[in-house]
Amino acid sequence: MRTTDTSKMTFATVEPGVGLKKALALSPEEIIGLISESGLKGRGGAGFPTDIKWKLAAGMENPLKYVVCNADEGEPGTFKDRVILANFSDLMFDGMTIAARAIGASKGIVYLRGEYTYLRSFLEGKLATRREEGLLGERVLDLDGFDFEIEIRMGAGAYVCGEETALIESLEGQRGEPRNRPPFPVNTGFMGHPTIVNNVETFSWVPCIFTKGAKWFHDIGTEKSTGLKLFSVSGDCGKHGVFEFPMGITLKELLEKVDGTGAKAVQAGGASGHCVPASDFDRTIAFEDVPTGGSIIVIGPERDMLKVAENFMEFFVDESCGQCTPCREGNAKLLEGIEMLQQGRCSMAYLRELCALGETMQLASKCGLGQSSPNAFLSIVSNFKDEIMGRTEPAL
Ligand SMILES: Cc1cc2nc3c(=O)[nH]c(=O)nc-3n(C[C@H](O)[C@H](O)[C@H](O)COP(=O)(O)O)c2cc1C
Ligand code: SF4
Repeated sequence: MRTTDTSKMTFATVEPGVGLKKALALSPEEIIGLISESGLKGRGGAGFPTDIKWKLAAGMENPLKYVVCNADEGEPGTFKDRVILANFSDLMFDGMTIAARAIGASKGIVYLRGEYTYLRSFLEGKLATRREEGLLGERVLDLDGFDFEIEIRMGAGAYVCGEETALIESLEGQRGEPRNRPPFPVNTGFMGHPTIVNNVETFSWVPCIFTKGAKWFHDIGTEKSTGLKLFSVSGDCGKHGVFEFPMGITLKELLEKVDGTGAKAVQAGGASGHCVPASDFDRTIAFEDVPTGGSIIVIGPERDMLKVAENFMEFFVDESCGQCTPCREGNAKLLEGIEMLQQGRCSMAYLRELCALGETMQLASKCGLGQSSPNAFLSIVSNFKDEIMGRTEPAL
């Protein structure tokens, strides 16, 4: 049953424009200070502190800076940003505008997932209204020296283009391949200018923090993972859809709310996340425990875990950009290993080698795709030993 109810979300209680007005009454330093107090961390997956990113970009001397909203949402099992884009885009635009004021940017770009093309004209209509209302363009809200424009640019369906440096390459019209870091986008981003890239949801919480207060946000969740979060819930549970929960919720509590208590495992964080077995359902969803950008895939007791791993590895073999060897070759080797296990042709010794390969990929791959693509395979092998070892080739 699909049960997304946007009226129950905090975003529905926050009036667009209110947080923006409060923020623009403050200095850029005070804006970043309030974000620090709230403890906001990126909602795109990595959980990087938003204030630190903004502070670094604010410190760059450059007449042209960019605010980029990552609306690529390509992680399998993630669809919460689509709900924000369709229902609360003004909060997202408010957040981008506050960020622009904080770092001294005059241009904003929303990098919209190719599959969300149907939302483009709707979002451009919203931007046109904002221009008419003085919320965009020259002297935003009559603030001297603050000009800010936002445009929508389309992605073309590559998962890797959600990685911020590949996204910037794609925006520049290049092949969407991750860059070496450093330099980081806050120093050298879009067209060589300081650029912050934040997730749709991260920007959308910003005006809520200014409307309801940094303390309000900080008092929810755990010490290291504050605030509320949207979760895209799919798989073997009674209720599918987008739900808002506080950070720090345990997997057990979350499963109770979505009628998924009989689950055998949860893939937290999409295909690139970790597969958490039922014995660990007391663990919390938090950056310091089980991290997730919001994808929760519930795996029921009947599921074949090798099939689950195969599904994810097929995705990564398709989506690896092929630039570096550990990821390009490693994903293909892990998938081949899964197929060998399925056919009873994989020895215990070879399975151990595959696990070592996965660990090497985590360390040696150039970007987050190859660094995280072995997570599901490795966690399934380690948490479902009986199920996986039973499929290895019998010793002679
Ligand atoms: C392969 C890959 C795909 C990614 N896809 C997305 C995405 O679709 N949306 C997103 O916000 N972040 C994505 N990220 C994370 C971004 O690189 C970046 O960390 C994020 O946009 C920063 O925003 P935040 O700090 O607000 O989370 C991806 C990372 C990798 C490695
Ligand atoms: S890790 Fe994979 S996606 Fe990232 S640069 Fe290397 S080949 Fe490309």
